[in-house]
Amino acid sequence: MLKMEDVDLAGKRVLIRQDLNVPFANGEVSSAGRIKASVPTIKAALEAGARVMVMSHLGRPKEGEPDSEHSLAPVARYLSELLRMDVPLVTDWLDGVEVGEGEIVMCENVRFNVGEKANDEALAKKMAALCDVFVMDAFGTAHRAQASTEGVARFAPVACAGPLLAAEVEALTAALGDPARPLVVIVGGSKVSSKLELLESLANVADQLIVGGGIANTFLAAAGHNVGASLYEPDLLGAARLIDREIRNRGGEIPLPTDVIAATEVSPEAHPEVRPVSEVESDEMILDVGPDSRDRIARILQDAGTIVWNGPLGVFEIDQFGGGTHVLARAIARSEAFSIAGGGDTLAAIEKYRIEDDVSYISTGGGAFLEFLEGKTLPAIAVLEERAKG
Ligand code: 3PG
Repeated sequence: MLKMEDVDLAGKRVLIRQDLNVPFANGEVSSAGRIKASVPTIKAALEAGARVMVMSHLGRPKEGEPDSEHSLAPVARYLSELLRMDVPLVTDWLDGVEVGEGEIVMCENVRFNVGEKANDEALAKKMAALCDVFVMDAFGTAHRAQASTEGVARFAPVACAGPLLAAEVEALTAALGDPARPLVVIVGGSKVSSKLELLESLANVADQLIVGGGIANTFLAAAGHNVGASLYEPDLLGAARLIDREIRNRGGEIPLPTDVIAATEVSPEAHPEVRPVSEVESDEMILDVGPDSRDRIARILQDAGTIVWNGPLGVFEIDQFGGGTHVLARAIARSEAFSIAGGGDTLAAIEKYRIEDDVSYISTGGGAFLEFLEGKTLPAIAVLEERAKG
């Protein structure tokens, strides 16, 4: 795969695809991790004397119907503050953009263009015609074969990987390709169904697969426990048993909680009870792992060689159900293992428990992170590899 650092960018029109799809609160950027992560790439291009055009999607607007809610204007403002330079937002950019050497513009939301999601060839060619060099740096969108990710990379005169994308691929490959053992993977979240492929593929590589949230409830039910009124998926008990068997056959383990925090409502006013997992009452929901299980998880993480984290262990947004995720976060922070984390909820937990500086690598990807862990080929990366082969 050709890398941006190996391309001479001086005086060139350089179109950089970033993933600046960030959350908003009251019309302003509420979590700027992805914008901050894009800065080194943009700075490197500017310093090399490129004429920089940045493009990104934001949310899921209706194509052909630009609306202010999905405008990148607040993102351009935020970026401009980080770069300490003007970042004008261009709304009509498909027919050509004026930008000087060492200057930058931001192209309005790529998803306002009809044909973006369908990876329309004519649209991709228009984007490609804007530039001399296309830089794919949006790891978070690399699982989407769309005009501004995969299509444009086919037709641009030169297409290369940006430093952020290259770093993400390198870190994930190191974590899964030939990991220092034991490889401990934490998969939390509400539904097995949304992470079934991930769990199935991890069963083939992980030494310890720690499950959390509704996913753990389904595994507990599959192991014969009464999970009361907890969120779980009865249809997937068979799938959970197969995953458990698979990992055991390899000498690995899914260490299920032995005690839990249960309550009859999911609210800050709830009265949580610590229960052995065999004593959950029929009107109670399991909302976190209990103290013994937390200690065990912390011990497992202490001995890990590599840690991959996606998803919380409980309803950590409510403090009284956040103890398990908090202990998990602290244990990852303390661990000497190479640790990698990704996914929206995981990033929120990392921010809440302030361990940003203690995780070896925090991925900017959500869906892309999961697909990479599942061993899938990400189309916007595959096209760069194909072009490098010539
Ligand atoms: C994400 O937030 O996971 C990426 O930006 C992709 O967004 P999408 O799921 O709307 O394609």
